[in-house]
Amino acid sequence: MKRIKIAVIGLGYVGLPLAVEFAKKYKVVGFDVNPERVEELRKGIDGTLEITNEQLSPVLVENAKELSNNIGLLPSSNVKDIALANVYIVTVPTPVDEHKKPDLSYLISASKMIATVLKKEDIVIYESTVYPGCTEEDCVPVLEKYSGLKFNKDFFCGYSPERINPGDKINTISTIKKVTSGSTPEIGEQINNLYKSIITAGTHLAPSIKVAEASKAIENAQRDVNISFVNELALIFDRMNIDTHDVLAAASTKWNFLPFKPGLVGGHCISVDPYYLAHKAESLGYHPAVILSGRKVNDEMGIFVATKVIKIMTRKGIPITNSNILILGITFKENCPDIRNTKVVDIYNELVSYGVKVDVNDPWANKNDVMDEYGIKLTERLNLEQYQAIILTVAHKEYSILRFMS
Ligand SMILES: NC(=O)c1ccc[n+]([C@@H]2O[C@H](COP(=O)([O-])OP(=O)(O)OC[C@H]3O[C@@H](n4cnc5c(N)ncnc54)[C@H](O)[C@@H]3O)[C@@H](O)[C@H]2O)c1
Repeated sequence: MKRIKIAVIGLGYVGLPLAVEFAKKYKVVGFDVNPERVEELRKGIDGTLEITNEQLSPVLVENAKELSNNIGLLPSSNVKDIALANVYIVTVPTPVDEHKKPDLSYLISASKMIATVLKKEDIVIYESTVYPGCTEEDCVPVLEKYSGLKFNKDFFCGYSPERINPGDKINTISTIKKVTSGSTPEIGEQINNLYKSIITAGTHLAPSIKVAEASKAIENAQRDVNISFVNELALIFDRMNIDTHDVLAAASTKWNFLPFKPGLVGGHCISVDPYYLAHKAESLGYHPAVILSGRKVNDEMGIFVATKVIKIMTRKGIPITNSNILILGITFKENCPDIRNTKVVDIYNELVSYGVKVDVNDPWANKNDVMDEYGIKLTERLNLEQYQAIILTVAHKEYSILRFMS
């Protein structure tokens, strides 16, 4: 392939770290439809906290002219800037709608936009999490229709799922082995070599795009189902007055017992991706009972936690109506500002429905985002004396016992 020039489409939790890593070796345009996001990145600031200013600033370039002479990253919301690329990598959101069905609208609109600048021999690689078949059945027809080019003759595709774990500073983009694939064996090799050039942990070239898509879908579905099993155990042992953690500690002494812990399952991945797989299975006439029952159990854990707190308070003779409860943590996981699809909101809503006054604190979450998304005003100054119950929902490092007591 001629000299590689990359456009990363969607500069979120997945796209930005990828664009920064590629920008150390290639010319990269990072395109995002959100001009505010592009503006903050141009200043060297990443609001997702995945990339530090020290990592971002050295790779930034000011404009297309500077990029034509250098390697580096040009954040942009101007479609003209991506026209110089010959490899497009799509990292836009793939959420579910209110009926838990895949919402491909971001993927389709990104594909339409790429199609307007697609040239012969270009490669479009999808990284967004999808169901098996989505790239070739849903995205490729859009690329063909709006570009007038022929798939696997004029242009090619690939799929390489992302495995990054927001907030995790040890397992980062280059240290996590990456699955790659291409629409022909030659393109698969090219795409694999491209990723190999930045992923120190190595790559795994899957035999087809569908296999690579399926591998991502099952990684997250497997985790979801495993957590749902221990969540179900927690529901059972609660009725028996047994501490689930004690049971798990005992069972974990067996060499092949899997160490999952009960908890809330939220976020943009594990609580969403199994619905993609389920949707595809159902479209083929198969009802995925295990996957969907896991989803159901995990989705109900927030209500279980809230009800449990109400029961404990009632048993202690604490009046519920107008009582004050503090929730510590609203992000979907610890030490990360991501509030998407957080299940802490289920706890909040259930408590409010009992007439409880609920305060929520979170040192990581952006208070404006929490207000916009959930209508909850974060409490910043804590007076612990005023609460009848405190629920530690997210294990942010600020909430570790020593810090908390001091
Ligand atoms: N966050 C994770 O931990 C993670 C891990 C692995 C895989 N994934 C998958 O990666 C994909 C992206 O997730 P994310 O967490 O980075 O999402 P995100 O919401 O953090 O980022 C997506 C970005 O894409 C932009 N965008 C939306 N539509 C666009 C378009 N048409 N053109 C250009 N930009 C557009 C948004 O403005 C946003 O900045 C999803 O499919 C997700 O399931 C996420």
